[in-house]
Amino acid sequence: MTDLENCSLREYNTFGIDVRTRQLVMYSSVSELQSFLDQYHHSAVPAPLLHIGGGSNLLFLSDFPGIILFSQIKDIEVLSEDEDSVLVSVGAGVTHDDFVQYAIDNGWYGLENLSLIPGQVGAAAVQNIGAYGIEAGDFIDSVHTISLLDGSEKTWSHDELTYSYRHSIFKDDSARGLYAVCHVCYQLSKSFTPYLEYGGLKESLRQIGISEKKLTADKLRSVIIRTRRSKLPDPKVTGNAGSFFMNPVVGNDTLQKIQTRYPDVPYFVVDTAHVKIPAGWLIEQCGWKGKTLGHAAVHDRQALVLVNKGGATGRDILTLCQAVQNAVFTKFGIRLIPEVNIIGRI
Ligand code: EPU
Repeated sequence: MTDLENCSLREYNTFGIDVRTRQLVMYSSVSELQSFLDQYHHSAVPAPLLHIGGGSNLLFLSDFPGIILFSQIKDIEVLSEDEDSVLVSVGAGVTHDDFVQYAIDNGWYGLENLSLIPGQVGAAAVQNIGAYGIEAGDFIDSVHTISLLDGSEKTWSHDELTYSYRHSIFKDDSARGLYAVCHVCYQLSKSFTPYLEYGGLKESLRQIGISEKKLTADKLRSVIIRTRRSKLPDPKVTGNAGSFFMNPVVGNDTLQKIQTRYPDVPYFVVDTAHVKIPAGWLIEQCGWKGKTLGHAAVHDRQALVLVNKGGATGRDILTLCQAVQNAVFTKFGIRLIPEVNIIGRI
């Protein structure tokens, strides 16, 4: 276990916001976490506790006055397999994209479209990360957690995890902030069935001359990586947290109202009564794409990404977030909800 005091969090959030935490505790096993929690609950005045993942979905507004937990559980173990599929347990501290590559290398398929999404496996299971028509939750069989309240273990079945768009039980009030995800159990297929229905993927394959019949998982991964790199800023170069906002789910009536002015508005059908409208499109229509406010900006190639232009504080990013929300609300009557978790106060 590594225990650092008065530690900068700059390397622990992809926005690169320079805030500090009173203590940073990195653990590498379930038992290390349990012994830390045992000590923690015996302290006279327990400090606030926050578990983070790769920091790719966090906006810190201020220094954290407590203890930040960070998982370095990195074991990968096959629990069972047959001719068709494999059940594999992955430590929450494994970098998600490393696991996508590892799975492909082992002939386990399903996660290709999630290539290059930053963050750890544990956070992926909490956020239900998604891209190009696939969500992590589609492949998660179960999740093993430790209660931060009493150190007890629990295995959550797929049904208990209540996955939906960018949502899991761990984002509900009943469970938020109360559990550390230690292992995620993925069920992956041994046959490669690419999912190419998301707009643009088939066209990208056509452009580089790869026929669907000859497509391999490795090739699909490289197409996804190229597509993401062409639109999304590299957090190692420009601080950002991927999509800052969720794509709003609205009723068909709202879509129809927008279509009277914008017949080409893009949307994805959610169910018979609802559609999802890309937040990036809404923001672009409001003229915010590529605009700078203080040290923060709306990315010029993908408007739902907010970026740190250098030296931004959490307040700078939040001010831009609110300006964008207000503009979209004024023009479309739609309230954008951040996908990013906002921590602390101004
Ligand atoms: N669009 C615009 N302007 C923009 C951005 C997008 O008009 O600035 C339009 C595009 O032209 C397209 C539509 O919006 O018609 C959808 O755009 P895109 O395919 O880029 O996807 P998205 O809805 O903007 C979502 C995820 C991304 C994920 C992509 C691909 C959310 C909040 N975001 O973005 O996830 O990579 O689909 O599947 O659901 C992330 O979570 O960090 C992330 C990047």
